[in-house]
Order: sequence, then C-alpha cells, then structure tokens
Amino acid sequence: MPNATAVINLDIEGPRINRHLYGHFAEHLGRCIYGGFWVGEDSPIPNEGGIRLDVVEALRALDIPNLRWPGGCFADEYHWRDGIGPREQRPSMVNTHWGDVEENNHFGTHEFMALCELLGAEPYISGNVGSGTVREMSEWVEYLTRDGDSPMVRLRRANGREEPWRVKFWGIGNETWGCGGNMRAEYSADLARQYATYCRDHGDNKLYRIASGASDADYKWTETLMQQISCFGCEATPKNFFQGLSVHYYTLAGPWEAKGSATVFDTDDYYRTVAAARRLDRILTGHSTVMDVYDPGRTVGLVLDEWGTWWDVEPGTNPGFLFQQNTLRDALVASTHFDIFHRHAARLHMANIAQTVNVLQAMLLTDGDSLVLTPTYHVFEMNKAHQDATSLAVHLRGDALRRTVGDTELEILSASASVKDGAVLISLSNLDAEEAAEVTLDLRGRSVGEPSARILTAGRLQDHNAPGTPETVAPRPFDGLKPTDQGLTLTLPPHSFVTVSAPLA
Ligand code: AHR
Repeated sequence: MPNATAVINLDIEGPRINRHLYGHFAEHLGRCIYGGFWVGEDSPIPNEGGIRLDVVEALRALDIPNLRWPGGCFADEYHWRDGIGPREQRPSMVNTHWGDVEENNHFGTHEFMALCELLGAEPYISGNVGSGTVREMSEWVEYLTRDGDSPMVRLRRANGREEPWRVKFWGIGNETWGCGGNMRAEYSADLARQYATYCRDHGDNKLYRIASGASDADYKWTETLMQQISCFGCEATPKNFFQGLSVHYYTLAGPWEAKGSATVFDTDDYYRTVAAARRLDRILTGHSTVMDVYDPGRTVGLVLDEWGTWWDVEPGTNPGFLFQQNTLRDALVASTHFDIFHRHAARLHMANIAQTVNVLQAMLLTDGDSLVLTPTYHVFEMNKAHQDATSLAVHLRGDALRRTVGDTELEILSASASVKDGAVLISLSNLDAEEAAEVTLDLRGRSVGEPSARILTAGRLQDHNAPGTPETVAPRPFDGLKPTDQGLTLTLPPHSFVTVSAPLA
C-alpha cells in the first residue's frame, strides 16, 4: 500500500484561519431564495416570518460566519428600494440572468437581515454597480447602518426597524468583467474608487469594501485594481478605497460547454475534477503575488467570494436555475479547497461557496418540505473547528502523494492542520479513486492526548444523499488510529476525507 508521512510541528504557529473562509452565498437564482431560504409566512413549512426553520437549524450547526446576498449576477440588476415596505406593494421585475422569471421582491433587505440574525451570520451585501447608481448604493448603506436622524433612517424606521444594523462586508459590484457590466479593468477600477468613496462609514459601522475582482487566472485584472487601490499623492496618509479584492474560481471537469453530469461520471472525469480543484492553489498564489507587489504589508484581503463545482443541471430542471446533485466527488473538492484556503490564510480573508441551498455546490437540497444534507455540508461541519484557529504547516512526503493520470501528475493526498482552544484538528483527504494510503502523522514539538477521528466516504464516488436515503454519504466515527513512536498511523480508504482531533497535552 502506498504510504506517506505528514510532519506537523505543533509548536510552530502559522497565520490565523479567518472564520470567513467558511462563508456562504445566497443569490436570487432558481430555488436558492424562494423555496430554499424563504417560503413565506403562510407556508405550511415551519418558518419564522417566512424563513424556513429546517434550513436555519441545519446551517446553524455549521457556524456559518457570513452570507453573501443578493448575487452574483443578480446583484447588478437588483434595486434595493423595490425590496422594502409592505410586500404586496413591492414592484416585481424580471430576473433576466436566471431563468427569465418574475421576481416579486418579497425577500428584500429586512428579510435578509432577519435571516442573518437567525443564522448568527454576518451579512455580506453585494451592491449594484452594473445598472445602479452611486446614490442608490450610498443610500442603501445609509438605510442599513446609520443611526440618529436622516432621510434613509426615517425610511427604515417607517418600515419597522428602529435601530441600525451592523454591516461590515460590502461588495462594489460583481463580475464587472462579465455579467456585471462587461467593463474593462481600468474602467472597473475607476468605478470601484468612485462607488467606494460614497459607501460611507456611518458612526462606528466600519465597512470592509470588496472591489469586483478577477476570474480564474486573470492576474492582469488584479494588477490593474491594485494599482488603483489608493490615491497616492492625494493625501499625506493614503487611505485604501477598498479593503478586499474578489476573485471567482469554479471547478469543472471540462469546458463550459461540456461540464458533464453531477452524478454520472467516470474515473477520468473524476481525476480531471481533482486536477481542476488543485489548480486553485496556483491561482491564489498568482493573485497573492501580484497583490504583494502593491500591498507588501498584506492589509488588503483576497476574497474568493464564489467557488465550487459547476455541473450540468439535473435533467428536467430549468437550465437557468443551476440545480445540481452533490456527490462524494463534490465533498472531496470542498475538502481539498479548504486545505488550499488554510495554506493561503495570510492573504485570503474570505471565501464563499456557490451556493448555500439548491444551486450549484449546495449544502442543502430542498424539495417541498423535504431537506437533505449534501456530502459537501458534512465537510463544512467536520472542518468547522478550523474557523479562527491558528494554522499549522503540514509537510507531506512519501510515495502516496502523487499519481500519474494520463500525462498528468496529480497530487493525490491533501492535508491541513490547525490548533484552537488547546486542541489540534488535522484534515486529510485521499483523492485516489481506487487505492488506500497509509499515513503516519509525525507530530512534533508538543505531545497530544487521546485522539479521535471521523471519516466521510462511500462505496462509490457518485454516491449522494436523497430524501429516502439521506445518510448514504455521512460522517462516521473512524477507529483506525494506531499510536506509534512518531505519533499516529492510519489507513485512509480510497476517496475518503478524515478529520483527526486531539487535545494538546
Ligand atoms: O453562482 C452563479 C453565478 O456565477 C453568479 O451569479 C455569477 O457571479 C457567477 O458567474
């Protein structure tokens, strides 16, 4: 059996893993909001003020740190004033990006903020640059966050909310290179500066403004934005216009025109998916390297506010709704991504999976009153103690690390570790479709107490959960840990994700 050693120095601490790397994304797209988060107050599905309580309960168990809304592409045609006030009087619109369906605006600002409160998550609002105005965005910030007396404060109070909310994360447009306005980087950078200027900090509510950034490996876009981040020479102490810069990266097994099925795929498709997921590491390194030139002190955050797998929609569903199943393959993409995020913790401030319910790589799939936890959900749950933990470097060596697939050499083992509250958490993925791997955890610098472990795997990579079979892919206790002189040894089954935790002695 191939083997590997993971050397972890428990006493050499790396950067903090920002809890916002475990962030989420809810767009007015398909059944994410309507039917997913929102069923309305008159629904027989248990709800609080229209918000589905089974969804809230499932997500609370993940400690989700933030929720991005209302898009995505939808954000750049969303006009927030249409989504406030009595619901029956709100104007409707056509959601041209997603299915060309009518949007009744019943889920708007107050509903979103109530959802965040129920989830215990911070709001991340994505403002409209593509078809909105500077004034519109500026007034939305005022409406949400200003105290005292002002036109927007009076409007908010007339709609039933006395106190301002706290909103930190604010997106200045989305994919301005594409659905958000088809702009050039230079123009987008100028707009980011302009819009950011009028997104004011009201009282002690300090915004973290996120400029619309690159897709994939478009480092030139990042460079253009970083060159314009602050107004050098305008002021004695230049202040950054934006505090974060986004990037989007989706994992596909092939070209956009032939993404393939979520559940019907072969081993070649699987390894192409693994290679695509691994590519994110190089892409984050590329963007970070460019950012280091303009911001060597690393004050500006890289924000991967859309990531995840993107497959063909499930047969028979609306192509504009992006509804896809979620298998063990998706879970392994998620576990590999988190290892990459942890390694980039010094620059990566936030990441948001696309999307939380019923769209793309979802945590939860609903159908009427049924709710299923996906394999990806379980990775978020098994990894949640990494949130706000101190990262530990994992040095891997051995013959189980790589596998030659066709003419590509693939890294087949993935791992990361962190320490928090006196305990270490080690995440390990064996991405090999067929072979198990023996891994020795060589733990140095401190000793550990009684370890415990959990495993997420299934008979087949295509396995997934459904209403009648909700636990086909679910975490189970893993009792294969063997203490050795060096630390611990365990055998990772093929296509498995294992977490090991232990108190520091
Ligand atoms: O997540 C689905 C879509 O993907 C988002 O609306 C858009 O930003 C991206 O292209």
